[in-house]
Amino acid sequence: MDVYDAITKRRTVYSFLAKEVSEDIILKLIDSAVRSPTAGGIREYEFIIVTNPALKLEISKISLTPHIDSAPLIIVVICDKSKMDAIFDKEDSETFCVENAALAIENLLLVASSYGLGSAWIATLQQDEIKKTLAIPEKYKVRGIIPIGYIKEEGEVKPIGPKADLSKIVHIEKFNSNAD
Ligand SMILES: Cc1cc2nc3c(=O)[nH]c(=O)nc-3n(C[C@H](O)[C@H](O)[C@H](O)COP(=O)(O)O)c2cc1C
Repeated sequence: MDVYDAITKRRTVYSFLAKEVSEDIILKLIDSAVRSPTAGGIREYEFIIVTNPALKLEISKISLTPHIDSAPLIIVVICDKSKMDAIFDKEDSETFCVENAALAIENLLLVASSYGLGSAWIATLQQDEIKKTLAIPEKYKVRGIIPIGYIKEEGEVKPIGPKADLSKIVHIEKFNSNAD
């Protein structure tokens, strides 16, 4: 599958089949994530791969997202902002941490899509509770919870739809009002 196909087929999925994702694919997902560009060449994020059913259920509860424990794995992306603070000022450090993680997560979601896997990016979560549940050290921040698995089509799955009216958001040469 080419990149554009993977992009157009990707959609947020919350319900998954009880089918394992192979270790090879999991490694590809992580490998693709760490190949994204990074501000300052610093890769301050890390991954926790959760397959334990009790932990997945706990994550689902804490993130207020039912069903995601049906995923065979949940990848939790965390970042150590102190690595950025050592190089950048506070504002850039904050921004770059978010941007680096976002790029890594997007790579991961797209490669998952290329393997016919569904995923979701869950960002609304209670940091302290997730950190406690997964024994994540204090200095880390959780950037995303990514359930991944084969799509249960009759489950909770967002439809693939047109993303945007390009005529309203693309400006040619200079900003214009894109008046209707
Ligand atoms: C930064 C970010 C945070 C998100 N957080 C959540 C979330 O907390 N809970 C959730 O159900 N979906 C979350 N999503 C998924 C979006 O709701 C979803 O991408 C959007 O509705 C578009 O649907 P699509 O991914 O199928 O195109 C998040 C997506 C992004 C990019």
